[in-house]
Amino acid sequence: MREIKVLFVCLGNICRSPLAEGIFKKLIEERGLLKHFHFDSAGTAAYHTGSPPDPRSFEIAGQHNILLEHTARKINDHDFQTFDYILAMDTSNYQHIKAQMERHPKIKSQLFKMRDFDAQKSGRDVPDPYYGGLKGFEKVYEMLEEACNIFIDYLEENHPFLQSNS
Ligand code: 4NP
Repeated sequence: MREIKVLFVCLGNICRSPLAEGIFKKLIEERGLLKHFHFDSAGTAAYHTGSPPDPRSFEIAGQHNILLEHTARKINDHDFQTFDYILAMDTSNYQHIKAQMERHPKIKSQLFKMRDFDAQKSGRDVPDPYYGGLKGFEKVYEMLEEACNIFIDYLEENHPFLQSNS
């Protein structure tokens, strides 16, 4: 069966992108679409490679009955051949990935910013909550939930097999 492959990317891969991955999983499960997807998350930096999600992302996810099960990793060139969609959390992540992709002639991935899919198609950053408190993680959760829902709507429109087979 054909799968749509989605990669969420932030800087450290311990706060925003694992949370985005967990929210995305919950939403596609609720829509009966889980079997149609492969998804993962990664960071543009390797500082936290091998680490679990930040306890604050874990906490906020838990409040919404989402269990985060991810081990941080750095994005790599192979990802550009594997994933259909790469969603960057902020402008810095986006530019980093874009530059890396431009060095490779054969790429499969389409690159977006996560908030290209918010209600205003704002393209604004999902702010880095790492140096703040739990409130910042709550705000990030809300932004991610909105953008993930709209992204899934977009996928349903652009991949008709999602509507017929679910
Ligand atoms: P993330 O947050 O990119 O959302 O995972 C950060 C995590 C760690 C650091 C920065 C941002 N750091 O500088 O270690």
